[in-house]
Amino acid sequence: MAISAKQRVLSGMRPSGQLHLGHYHGVLKNWLKLQNEYECFFFVADWHALTTEYESPQSISESVWEMVIDWLAVGINPGSARIFIQSRIPEHAELHLLLSMLTPLSWLERVPTYKDQQEKLSNKDLSTYGFLGYPLLQTADIIVYKAGYVPVGEDQVAHVELSREIARRFNYLYGREPGFEEKAELAASKMGKKNNKLYHQLRMDYQEKGDDLALEKAAALIASQKNISMGDHERLMGYLEGGGKMIFPEPQALLTHIPRFPGLDGQKMSKSYGNTIGLRENPNSVQDKIKTMPTDPARVRRTDPGDPDKCPVWAFHQVYADDGLKSWVQQGCRSASIGCLECKQPLIDAVLKEQEPIRERAREYAADPEVVRGIVSDGCEAARDIARETLEEVRSVMGLSYK
Ligand code: TRP
Ligand code: SF4
Repeated sequence: MAISAKQRVLSGMRPSGQLHLGHYHGVLKNWLKLQNEYECFFFVADWHALTTEYESPQSISESVWEMVIDWLAVGINPGSARIFIQSRIPEHAELHLLLSMLTPLSWLERVPTYKDQQEKLSNKDLSTYGFLGYPLLQTADIIVYKAGYVPVGEDQVAHVELSREIARRFNYLYGREPGFEEKAELAASKMGKKNNKLYHQLRMDYQEKGDDLALEKAAALIASQKNISMGDHERLMGYLEGGGKMIFPEPQALLTHIPRFPGLDGQKMSKSYGNTIGLRENPNSVQDKIKTMPTDPARVRRTDPGDPDKCPVWAFHQVYADDGLKSWVQQGCRSASIGCLECKQPLIDAVLKEQEPIRERAREYAADPEVVRGIVSDGCEAARDIARETLEEVRSVMGLSYK
């Protein structure tokens, strides 16, 4: 895979109400790290939200800007990451349509989330065309930018896997232009005599001996060529790997292990369990929620010893407390030398302290909607430039560029 393509990261999030601390610790902190290492594109997946919320779409429009503000407030930096809205880039829809022509129905039917979600969201009618196509739309989102990495949670890995299969099928069907080998040879000669020779050597090492290092080196060599066209770049990559022209690189899921973030009741924090603390929830409300959190039921009276392992508050301390505080909790709880409210206070302080700068930045952005709109339109423009270019190429290889 070309190094240059690998360095683009893309991820989307459905706009579904205010983000909570689970989103922050699970997804956003990871995005913050990635934005410094890769060319990142983060987008609001409003069409994806519509596949399940089509009966009440106003919930989507209410969440879009709030979610963007949440991203900015935690530190997503528009100077290094692009932020855009899916429905503003019609090329996602066009590519989705074109990919639908070559997508076997069975590939979509066997994506595990299809049946799972239909069962889980049984209050909604999800026997729709759009819902079946959900992972194909996601494929279009990803490959329209030729993204190399897609940071996602465990539940989305199958979708990225589908996008790899679709990319491969597309390359197989449309990467076989007439005279491919001659064109690839010509492209190789454009790299200069020395590089041409090196390219052929590495290609042989890879194709005859399966030398992956040679593949990587050759990909880096191609990526470093400043004077060859995009088309030649793809020919050289395809020729190297032994196929046709590689129009879409195969994206990879970037599965960062995210420890499960606890909710107020000890289950995983999730909107559907009603056990969340909002990312920028009002401090009094945060305080009330933590103060009324359930604790180890064995501690009926203040003098009853408890077991932190049976207490949701302890799960939070494991995220927020340092070692000293943790052993204070352990000893104090087991010996009944501290009360539960006392135990909760440092947690309240830590959560409020974490939220303070986020709340403050969010306030600034919320007070200045024009700034937020501007960031998003810049992001849309940058995204659209890439998407347009990809679609031109796709139309051309699919025989749709009539002259
Ligand atoms: N399906 C993803 C989710 O529910 C959101 C999403 C849509 C996405 N398109 C994407 C994520 C493309 C990564 C890449 O979380
Ligand atoms: Fe939970 Fe702390 Fe009370 Fe122990 S002392 S039960 S850990 S809140």
